[in-house]
Amino acid sequence: MSDAMDPVKLMKQQVGKAAADRVKSGSIVGLGTGSTTAFAIQFLGDRIKSGELTDIKGVPTSFQASVLAKQYGIPLTTLDEVERIHIGIDGADEVDPAKNLIKGGGAAHTREKVVDSLAEEFIVVVDQSKIVDALGSTFPVPVEVLPMAIAPVMRALEKLGGKTDLRMGVNKDGPVITDQGNMVIDTKFESIANPPELEAILNNIPGVLENGIFVNVTDLVLIGEIKDGQPIV
Ligand code: 5RP
Repeated sequence: MSDAMDPVKLMKQQVGKAAADRVKSGSIVGLGTGSTTAFAIQFLGDRIKSGELTDIKGVPTSFQASVLAKQYGIPLTTLDEVERIHIGIDGADEVDPAKNLIKGGGAAHTREKVVDSLAEEFIVVVDQSKIVDALGSTFPVPVEVLPMAIAPVMRALEKLGGKTDLRMGVNKDGPVITDQGNMVIDTKFESIANPPELEAILNNIPGVLENGIFVNVTDLVLIGEIKDGQPIV
């Protein structure tokens, strides 16, 4: 099967397009990170190129998002220059029934939380596999940590009942380094009964920059699925 025919990729494309279609001219747009949001960024660029969408500025959540935005012709701005973000689009690794999220599969959750939580309308783009009954069911919580504090933070996370793993790069020859120059400890909890409480507890550990639990941020979840071999949103 050729790459273009891959139904999962087609589904991500459709979800990304559905989100990009909701952006109106004159908007400041939060640009998320990940393979699904990458399609939203591409479609936004297409709409700008065709002249259908004008006066758009993007606020990227990562180096990856800023590279893609430049590639697809989306003008960028920063939080120093704008007071509001009208609409934000981002992916997620888990979504619970209250629209709370686990994010950070791309190690970008620290900037993502800043940008996503400022968006007046925040849209999450995911496929069906990311929908869970309770956060933590499948995915560990990514915790961004100052490199000099890795050992004590790992001990603190294990005391809280987490199973910790320092995230390594694809070739396993060194740790993943975030856009801020830090490291990520993936922390698997048996279950997360109270996401806002755990979010606050984790961020209170000295050396932790931010964790991947996002509470009360999401307005809309666009879910892609494959039915009868066809991608739908
Ligand atoms: C990056 C993220 C991503 O949005 C999340 O991992 C989902 O990515 P994808 O759309 O590739 O599944 O949180 O830090």
